[in-house]
Amino acid sequence: MHPLLEQQIKKYQDPAMIRLIKEYFKENEAANVYIQIVQEQKGEVIIDHAAIRCMDVEQMAEAFLKTGYEHKNELIEYPEQGWWAKVYRKKNHPALFIDQDYPDKKGANSPITPWVRKFGDRGLHHIAVLVKNIDQTKKALEQKGVEFSGDIIGAPKTRLRQIFTAAEIKDGAPFTVLELTERNNYEGFYPEQADGLMKSSTKTKSR
Ligand SMILES: [Fe+2]
Repeated sequence: MHPLLEQQIKKYQDPAMIRLIKEYFKENEAANVYIQIVQEQKGEVIIDHAAIRCMDVEQMAEAFLKTGYEHKNELIEYPEQGWWAKVYRKKNHPALFIDQDYPDKKGANSPITPWVRKFGDRGLHHIAVLVKNIDQTKKALEQKGVEFSGDIIGAPKTRLRQIFTAAEIKDGAPFTVLELTERNNYEGFYPEQADGLMKSSTKTKSR
């Protein structure tokens, strides 16, 4: 494991979260390119949140609630896109985002259920790293060959700006992505504009 990553995750007192992060970094190339950039810039890798996709949020959350993660009323709903999530928090740890589809026909076109059927729910779908300037970080990653799934969600200087890299491909299907997150005095998960991020999670790398 890269020392910059090690330095960050050894602070977490949560073996389950550490395992998830380690596994994710083994599979996601963009995330490793990001660490290289941070190293070149003599910065720090800060994980803003980690996201799990599953079929049953409450059931998935049980193990994390036991290790000290708490749910404080943060519920994110995207009925038009067919999915919802709860956000779990633990001090000095990455926020944990647990997603599932609506079980009824609202969820029919969401990518989450097919993803979970293919890859299971024991790993992360993405990690989001906290960056100071999302435009600059995106450019630096692109210069090293990392592709993105679309445009940055959130206008410059708004409270939350996010973008996904193009998904890694595993067994012919879109697998994990890296998210860049820029925050401007805001800890929550709603960007100013309606979210287009999930739709972009199925775009895969071109090579
Ligand atoms: Fe995210």
